[in-house]
Amino acid sequence: MFKNLFTPIKIGKMELSNRLVVPPMVMNYCNEDGTATERFIAYHEAKARGGWGLIITEDYAVDPKGKGFSRLPGLWDDSQIDSHMKLTERIHKYGAKIVAQIYHAGRQTNHFVIGSQPVAPSPIPCPSNQEIPHELTVKEIKEIVEKFGDCAFRAKKAGFDGVEIHGAHGYLIAQFMSPYSNKRTDEYGGSLYNRMRFPLEIISNIRAKAGNDFPIIFRISANEFVPGGRTIEDTKAIAVMLEKAGINAIHVSAGVYASAHTIIPPAAVPHGWITDFAAAVKKVVSIPVITVGRINDPFLAEEIIASDKADLVSMGRASLADPELPNKAAAGRFEDIQQCIGCMQGCIERLFKNIDVKCLVNPTLGREIEYKITPANNRKKVFIAGAGPAGMEAAIVAAKKGHDVHLYEKTDRLGGQYLLAAVPPFKGEITTFISWQKTQLNKLGVNIHLNTELTPDVVDMEKPDAVIIATGSKPTIPHIPGIDRQNVVTAHDVLNGKVDTGHNVIIVGGGLIGSETADHLANHGKKVTIVEMLPEIAKDEEANVRYFLLKDLKEKDVAIYTNAVVKEIVDDGVIAELAGKVEKIGPADTIVIAVGVKPVNDLAIKLEGRVERVITVGDALEARKALEAIEEGYSAGLEI
Ligand SMILES: Cc1cc2nc3c(=O)[nH]c(=O)nc-3n(C[C@H](O)[C@H](O)[C@H](O)COP(=O)(O)OP(=O)(O)OC[C@H]3O[C@@H](n4cnc5c(N)ncnc54)[C@H](O)[C@@H]3O)c2cc1C
Ligand SMILES: Cc1cc2nc3c(=O)[nH]c(=O)nc-3n(C[C@H](O)[C@H](O)[C@H](O)COP(=O)(O)O)c2cc1C
Repeated sequence: MFKNLFTPIKIGKMELSNRLVVPPMVMNYCNEDGTATERFIAYHEAKARGGWGLIITEDYAVDPKGKGFSRLPGLWDDSQIDSHMKLTERIHKYGAKIVAQIYHAGRQTNHFVIGSQPVAPSPIPCPSNQEIPHELTVKEIKEIVEKFGDCAFRAKKAGFDGVEIHGAHGYLIAQFMSPYSNKRTDEYGGSLYNRMRFPLEIISNIRAKAGNDFPIIFRISANEFVPGGRTIEDTKAIAVMLEKAGINAIHVSAGVYASAHTIIPPAAVPHGWITDFAAAVKKVVSIPVITVGRINDPFLAEEIIASDKADLVSMGRASLADPELPNKAAAGRFEDIQQCIGCMQGCIERLFKNIDVKCLVNPTLGREIEYKITPANNRKKVFIAGAGPAGMEAAIVAAKKGHDVHLYEKTDRLGGQYLLAAVPPFKGEITTFISWQKTQLNKLGVNIHLNTELTPDVVDMEKPDAVIIATGSKPTIPHIPGIDRQNVVTAHDVLNGKVDTGHNVIIVGGGLIGSETADHLANHGKKVTIVEMLPEIAKDEEANVRYFLLKDLKEKDVAIYTNAVVKEIVDDGVIAELAGKVEKIGPADTIVIAVGVKPVNDLAIKLEGRVERVITVGDALEARKALEAIEEGYSAGLEI
């Protein structure tokens, strides 16, 4: 099936068994002193076990003042070597190779993380971090060069197979390389030759300390996607300079913090969208080129290598979603692969709150130790009410434990509200997760009862040992005059295909559901207006997802009223209070209600005292999102 993906390749002296790479991803799992935790090691071990040829770790800080997040690994001191040696030893047991990414955040951090003023080539704040950095003196630059070399040497001592120099994403090295952030007029600024002095000095320092044989990968943003930033033409010239300086591979990414949606693109961005940049770099160098960017499928990865656009393929979030992807692909178990859906909720949304990374489709991420499924001692009869993502996940885990699982769903299909989440533009990949859950339920032989409501009577009759309540949530209907009119429908019914709307539509409520429903309708040629009581719409979306949603709404001329409270629904519009004034908004043929959801949890109350074990999960417990629903479903299945 795969003629290229599972062929070996060399990066310098490092031999890889296949072309599948885990790119660096900060998990925030380390100790604050930069040493490795068992959680950090077990997370990487799952990837090595899963068959990835090369694991590039998240960025190891070369200096504590260069940290961008609190719980990053570090090799700025010899005392940190031992804990990271445990990591490399565990990875090598599986035949995988592991390379440490080494970095300094420069101005893309803040004093809350490092306890002092960030540093940079020039005293210009990063537009997203907004802290004025200290302009490095030449002496300080030379000291940081030494720190990179020392860090690489420690990485070698810790058993890493090489290092990746983080020259991408707008961190310190990239700040020097780009006229966007480097305004110096000394030997480290101005011409490309001068701007490259810092990275080239780092490379020769690493070579001097870690030796000529120690593999060095250089990560670069092909295009920074900011006004005045570097472009692919600069990058091609840089790639040639880097190859001459002795690096062994180049890893082509994109963006800086101010264009964050290009570094970690959400589902709105096409698969493999920066691979053409990698192909352009590949044309000018002879060392291996690694590509990355929304590649979440082994067939896509195979095609990229087959068409000679890159030599290796990094699959970041795809490896979070399924650390076993390579093994499953090699074994032809495609239906078992859990694909990244580009939702950004567990990974980047949490990371930018400086907390630990999770994955919506893979609750075991970061919990490799405690979330192990072992066969239950007693086979129990487990009933689950509701086949949304929470109920299905609970059923999968309980069945894997060997229980006799019955999944009840009152409608005619599996997926719950998450089916509706897949309807708006950019969100179709949610179906890959629902269909993965369905496949697993079938393979595990879960008894599925569609069109069947789980009621206290059924429970009394069938006497299960445990019931998991995953009955989800339902739309909140506000008490406003006119709510019972014929022209009023819910966003849920619109997305469900139960009701059609007229041409002119007003959406009452501009949260995630309302805004996405607006996008869906506008995408079908409707004239849409959103009326929201808060100052901004879609604030409950992840920032990068929101960026594309707002862009799309703007392009489709969706009218947006904020700070507007709907007081009444009338025949052809709504009456709203805007900045103290009462106004009519319209005309509208249909009014769509999207003011939130509330838990459906009455079954739990009715079952009290009737069953030994009742666990409520997901929206039924508290209306939130699929991330929490799936996690709680998994944990409930495990608990039984
Ligand atoms: C338009 C839209 C977009 C969304 N986008 C996102 C998003 O981008 N990211 C995200 O994380 N979340 C999103 N959500 C929210 C997400 O879909 C929900 O949080 C999630 O589906 C909750 O899962 P659940 O399993 O707890 O409940 P539900 O998905 O609500 O499933 C509950 C199921 O239980 C069934 N049921 C109820 N009572 C019984 C009973 N007594 N017997 C049998 N069956 C019963 C229902 O029919 C339903 O199928 C979105 C929701 C919508 C509507
Ligand atoms: C949670 C998270 C943390 C990341 N941390 C790093 C990092 O430390 N260094 C780096 O070069 N890239 C980092 N990235 C970017 C990834 O390496 C990768 O380029 C990006 O996720 C796009 O690839 P993907 O679509 O395959 O996920 C991170 C991405 C994620 C999702």
